[in-house]
Amino acid sequence: MIYLDYAATSFKKPEAVYTAADHALRALSGNPGRSGHGLSLAAGEAVAETRLALSRLFHAESMETIAFTNNTTMGLNMAIRGIVKPGDHVITSSLEHNSVARPLEHLKDAGVEVTKINADIENGIDPEAVEAAVRDNTSLVVCTHISNVTGTVNDIAAIGEVCRRRGVPFLVDAAQSAGVRDIDVQKMKIDLLAFPGHKCLYGPQGTGGLYVSPEIDLEPFITGGTGTKSELLHQPEDRPERYESGTLNVPGIAGLGKAVEFILQTGVEQIRAREHELTERLLNGLREFDNVNILSAQGHNRGAVVSITIGGVEPQDASIYMDQIFGIAVRSGLHCAPYAHETIGTLDKGGTVRISPGYFTTDEEIDACIEAVGIISRGEI
Ligand code: ALA
Repeated sequence: MIYLDYAATSFKKPEAVYTAADHALRALSGNPGRSGHGLSLAAGEAVAETRLALSRLFHAESMETIAFTNNTTMGLNMAIRGIVKPGDHVITSSLEHNSVARPLEHLKDAGVEVTKINADIENGIDPEAVEAAVRDNTSLVVCTHISNVTGTVNDIAAIGEVCRRRGVPFLVDAAQSAGVRDIDVQKMKIDLLAFPGHKCLYGPQGTGGLYVSPEIDLEPFITGGTGTKSELLHQPEDRPERYESGTLNVPGIAGLGKAVEFILQTGVEQIRAREHELTERLLNGLREFDNVNILSAQGHNRGAVVSITIGGVEPQDASIYMDQIFGIAVRSGLHCAPYAHETIGTLDKGGTVRISPGYFTTDEEIDACIEAVGIISRGEI
């Protein structure tokens, strides 16, 4: 099987990730931060190591700024619902995933106003448009770093600059960028960063996190047992426990720790460059086919996501052919991102076929994918 669906989740992981998750299941099954026995302490140490590694990766002020979540969606919900109040105004973009669009839609019912800025596929959101949209009651700017449909890269540092100048908290959806783009939350003036552990960080599914700047006053969305200050009925103020009620996913987090170590050792830039090379090869091959439309970003600054349509073939059918005839795993449809598909004109057309390689993808796998798309596009199946 050739796996080209890394934007959904990573398939191949660094070997140490498997070993660490297995070891945690067998040897670290205490509840971190709860009991005082050895197993609980060992689990707590594994969690702390991962937290520290993540804080280094994102150049955060301290490890306490990182709260673990089950995925990016959970982090985005925690941030959006913890900041935005009825009567507020929020700025977002036309490239957002439903993990941003749906919480905002829900808040609209509570009287929140939302401005959706149209993004350019090659250049992303214009920071000046963000500035122009800011109102007195704007309580949040939220946008994706890299679109999961078009690979468009937003200029996060420039948008962060606008937000800081205007005093508006800035939330970034790093679902497709954490691990493959250099993210410095302090330099880029990011107040909240939601990220997955299982995509470009190459950790296990069910892991992720939310960076919360020490300057941000975020109401907890989920409250409950933290293992600390149990005599209080109100959620403790201390971070990260304030945002981490309930038992953590220790095997997943231990695996994620090794994944982040791999990223730090390999270097984010090297991973980005290799993925860029793979998508360049893919784009060059696909451009040869008359019947294939490339709808994702093709300029130098783009994510490792290539969205196409094939004339006369439904995206859903194309992905089934890819899987069942050629053994190639891709994702078709709307990719949970109707705004993005509206932007590229594929919302009512069944979406696109999305091909997304990862750091472990080989040139030969890309060539096999190009050949398969060529055969489908010529109707030779
Ligand atoms: N958001 C993930 C994707 O783009 C699941 O496929």
